[in-house]
Amino acid sequence: SSKARTAYVCSECGADHSKWQGQCGECGGWNTLGEFVVEPAAKAGASVAASRRGSWAGKADAPAVTALRDVRHTEEDRVSTGIGEFDRVLGGGLVHGSVVLVGGDPGIGKSTLLLQAISKMAGTLPGLYVTGEESLAQVAGRASRLGVPVDGVHALAETGVERVLEHAARMRPGLIVADSVQTLWTEELSAAPGSVSQVRESAARLVRYAKETGTAVFLVGHVTKEGGIAGPRVLEHMVDAVLYFEGESGSRFRVLRAFKNRFGAVNELGVFAMGEKGLREVPNPSAIFLSGSERPQPGSCVMVTREGTRPLLVEVQALVDASPLSNPRRVAVGMEGNRLAMLLAVLHRHGGIGVGDQDVFVNVVGGIRVQETAADLPVLLAVLSSLRDRPLAEQTVAFGEVGLSGEIRPVPNGEERLKEAATHGFKRAIVPKSNAPRSGRIGEMEVIAVERLADALERA
Ligand code: TYD
Ligand code: MG
Repeated sequence: SSKARTAYVCSECGADHSKWQGQCGECGGWNTLGEFVVEPAAKAGASVAASRRGSWAGKADAPAVTALRDVRHTEEDRVSTGIGEFDRVLGGGLVHGSVVLVGGDPGIGKSTLLLQAISKMAGTLPGLYVTGEESLAQVAGRASRLGVPVDGVHALAETGVERVLEHAARMRPGLIVADSVQTLWTEELSAAPGSVSQVRESAARLVRYAKETGTAVFLVGHVTKEGGIAGPRVLEHMVDAVLYFEGESGSRFRVLRAFKNRFGAVNELGVFAMGEKGLREVPNPSAIFLSGSERPQPGSCVMVTREGTRPLLVEVQALVDASPLSNPRRVAVGMEGNRLAMLLAVLHRHGGIGVGDQDVFVNVVGGIRVQETAADLPVLLAVLSSLRDRPLAEQTVAFGEVGLSGEIRPVPNGEERLKEAATHGFKRAIVPKSNAPRSGRIGEMEVIAVERLADALERA
């Protein structure tokens, strides 16, 4: 049989080249070629793409076409990680044979989280913790410092993926944690460890192993400055789920977010508090992202966000201040900068309030990142409140998308958000008209329905 060969594949267009070159001959991209191992295909001349695309591409006995309704299937077989918030983000527990990428900044707590999970699962799904960054003594030292029991947990300090798989084949763990995927490398490639092709190929080996054996695999990945894991987004396509572990370095709260999940909802959040005994889950996190100041402050607005499948009360803060710069600053922490710029333009054009000569800073309290458009209205209310130096009325919440023509658009699950705010004792809610109940009340809370940005600014 033919030997595996290496190919140079463009990360932009996927074109296959036999030699490395600086520019892709297909799409013209510069420095986009990476080295990959090509498994010998069953049929001579099969392309890289074909051999990757599916295992039956070149075989004579391709499976028969089947009516989908006749296909027998079972619910995914899940096992609890022993950590409720972790299970929630995974979609209700860890699926056997699934590959989950856990990304986050260095020092955010990825290793700690997975050490705690592998420890909790030792009885149900015995795990192998593969460390490429820390020595075994460091891992054991952390476990004992944080009081994480290590009975039944096996560890291996190794970065060569061939050796990792040899050990796994012998030990047959139900779960492998590879910490981190960036340290793994395969003998098949001449590229340096840590390079994109090494990371990708090593991950591919583990994915194949997971699928063949039903072993669950966690890949730990550091997020790069560009925000992708391991530089390219290639790993994200290879795995079943991508979870990001986030939080501000100053805050003790950590949020685990599902960015992609074949077995659950995306944007699902799990909330943890960091402590001397490791990560503690926060099962009812609704109100922890409020700043906790007693009286309302100028520049602050509480919103009800619904990232994932439950509502969360989150405080948005804005600081608007006369700018000494000819190009005033717009800084957004915890939300997208372009969205802020757009909202400020709408505020000017349809709310009649210009901040062109002001620096505008917006921050979402607690290191959480809000991605949904329901944050639009609260952001503008916070900006207005800071500009006027007047707090919003006490116990007010808001949510709603702001359109480019100044309309306030509804967001999903309005009633659930309102109920959550009422439960936490809020007295007033400013929300899109179609999200408001006809009665204008939810329990004790007054619900103010707005259709246009100008109305909302007036009512606030
Ligand atoms: P670590 O898990 O090593 O971060 P990462 O793997 O993402 O780089 O955590 C960084 C440090 O913080 C480590 O020394 C352990 C400590 N730590 C705690 O003391 N308590 C905690 O709850 C967490 C999450 C970390
Ligand atoms: Mg680590």
